[in-house]
Amino acid sequence: MHTQHRIILGNSQQMPELANGSVQLMVTSPPYPMIAMWDEVFAKSDPEITELFKKLNVEGEEEIVRQIYSAMHENLSKVWVETYRVLVDGGIACINIGDATRSINGKFQVFANHSRITEICEKIGFSSLPYVLWKKPTTKPMYKGKGAFLGSGFLPPNAYVTLDCEFILLFRKGKLRKFPPHDKERYDSAFTKAQRDEWFSQIWAFNGTRQTANELERRTAAYPEEIAERLIRMFSVKGETVLDPFLGSGTTTKVAMQNERNSIGYEVDEKLLPVITKKTASHKDKDSVVEIITRKE
Ligand SMILES: C[S@@+](CC[C@H](N)C(=O)[O-])C[C@H]1O[C@@H](n2cnc3c(N)ncnc32)[C@H](O)[C@@H]1O
Repeated sequence: MHTQHRIILGNSQQMPELANGSVQLMVTSPPYPMIAMWDEVFAKSDPEITELFKKLNVEGEEEIVRQIYSAMHENLSKVWVETYRVLVDGGIACINIGDATRSINGKFQVFANHSRITEICEKIGFSSLPYVLWKKPTTKPMYKGKGAFLGSGFLPPNAYVTLDCEFILLFRKGKLRKFPPHDKERYDSAFTKAQRDEWFSQIWAFNGTRQTANELERRTAAYPEEIAERLIRMFSVKGETVLDPFLGSGTTTKVAMQNERNSIGYEVDEKLLPVITKKTASHKDKDSVVEIITRKE
């Protein structure tokens, strides 16, 4: 099947390249609020967050941390609003997100990103659907916010439950999608009984992607291809279009190609283009056309 793939180097808070109701599925993993590796990305894209971090260095107050957390989610919410606009009625949005932990003024706490995103998406108009928990491999329980017991042995009460699951939140815009009876593409996209039983269960356990030596690729925190593969096959039909507004290393584009879907990916960091082209090149065949668009912001 002939498929088209657009990689747009630009900020997905605005997606002027996409018409209303032109995308059937969104699959993505955004930068995670309050996870230190993403602080700089948020600060760069939002002067208010930069100012709040400066203030935090001087005052170190919990209230400022709460403001940073809210500002980061407000930043992401602009992308969820645009996603709602470009999805067809009945289109699905899949958001892979992890919660974060951080100690502020000596107080350890969790920042429940999954619940903040759920609240925001419901306000936008999405309906929440039952979600998936992606169980990541770990053997280290937490003590004082660090990923190990550090000699606390077996004594209560100061150890924490380890955050070893990430969420794959699922939302729908509007009502169920409708298809003509025996729609060929839909029937050609069917999954097997074994796939249905596994994919539609709530806990998914498989290893995270292998970390590569390449710093740029590591920085994208790429998700396993298996996640994108399952979501694309569960919630779209061959020939439809999948959007990833936080493309990173290009996993979603690559998997869309492999599964005969069109794709659109936004990535704000132009330095990732060689990583994206490398990842997608091996799966690009004569039937898939790739277009790279550099937006003049
Ligand atoms: C968690 S990574 C995505 C990883 C991706 N799922 C993969 O498998 O490689 C998030 C990506 O979103 C990009 N990003 C952050 N804010 C953005 C925005 N407003 N528009 C477009 N890209 C953005 C970051 O540069 C980063 O590469």
